[in-house]
Amino acid sequence: MSPYAHITGWGMAVPAKVLTNEDLEKMVDTNDEWIQSRTGIRERHIVNDEESTASLAKDAALNALRVANLNPTEVELIIVSTSSPEHIFPATACLVQDQIGASHAGAFDLLAACSGFIYALNMATQAIRSGSVKNALVIGAETLSRFVNWEDRNTCVLFGDGAGAFVLQSGDEPGGVLSAVMRSDGSGANLLTVPAGGSHLPTSSETILHKQHTIHMNGREVFRFATRVMAQATKEVIAAAQLQIEDIQLVIPHQANLRIIEAAMRGLDIPKDQCFINIERYGNTSTASIPIATCEAIQQGRLHSGDNTVFVGFGAGLTWGAALVRWSGPFLPYRHIYPASYRLWVAIRSKLLRMVRRIEGWIWGRNI
Ligand code: UT7
Repeated sequence: MSPYAHITGWGMAVPAKVLTNEDLEKMVDTNDEWIQSRTGIRERHIVNDEESTASLAKDAALNALRVANLNPTEVELIIVSTSSPEHIFPATACLVQDQIGASHAGAFDLLAACSGFIYALNMATQAIRSGSVKNALVIGAETLSRFVNWEDRNTCVLFGDGAGAFVLQSGDEPGGVLSAVMRSDGSGANLLTVPAGGSHLPTSSETILHKQHTIHMNGREVFRFATRVMAQATKEVIAAAQLQIEDIQLVIPHQANLRIIEAAMRGLDIPKDQCFINIERYGNTSTASIPIATCEAIQQGRLHSGDNTVFVGFGAGLTWGAALVRWSGPFLPYRHIYPASYRLWVAIRSKLLRMVRRIEGWIWGRNI
């Protein structure tokens, strides 16, 4: 029988700097009343010059490893879901792999916008269920503040920065990620996009002048699509796990807009108190919103061992999806591991590897 993929660790990281609605009132023609009533957002966290997607991802990953009591060297797969990667390449996941010292892990990025964490969770689950890996790190990390047009009130009030991570581990006991659905509709690709900077529209003075490296969104259309697919994906994933809506203890939706979440819950006939919402303090952190919300749900005692939980999200692409998880919590700790204490060793290791590469280049370079 194939093993189950249990979520045994979770962690989050958000920048210290907070941008409130009142701060935004000084930047664009908006007001706190409009933002709160239309979106549910009160404030969001924004990176400073030293922080980046990889630094947030690394901090969230170390926190998750600490909960799972897992040594970074035992991680075999790292998936970073992000739409605001450190570079076009190399993958942000490889930078995280180096920074946490996961010396036995394969690492890659996955881009499915705000639905990305659900896609990544499902990919890591399949890798565990097939027996190809035993331990995986799934990270959702964004710094969309770097891609926002701070003069566009339609978008700049919505997004925030942050990262969340899960450790997935193989186990024989039934539980963990029980089912998942992933869907897409590229005919809506133009509804939410950063138009330039890729192969279609490479960077030029024109693209910079016309702010085509920032987020462009048709909010109303995305809103209509989101309210439709959230309920639909939730029903599909529950049916795939052969459960009923009544069997679900908690829904953790992508935190994009309070009104979208409320409409989806009404469509499902699920009371609002069975749904976890923290959008007021983080805004839309895209693919990071579900793992961040999960960490806070656990902190607040909203998730218990054995609970059936649905993660559901939507985003650019268009993409949407859901995952159903029977919560197992951390495996019993049998040792004490402090992944953060690896930092010094990990930095030395990375420098040594670079040095060895340079020496090899001197010795062998001329003969190749
Ligand atoms: O993770 C996926 C990411 N994207 C989303 O989830 C976005 C989904 N869409 C939404 O959340 C909503 O459509 C928004 C919050 C973006 C907009 O809310 P809305 O209720 O759909 O407003 P609207 O776009 O229909 O605009 C209503 C009015 C417009 O003025 P007029 O044309 O009626 O005079 C806007 O110009 O509100 C105006 N407006 C604002 N006013 C004050 C738009 N943004 C602002 C603002 N402050 N920040």
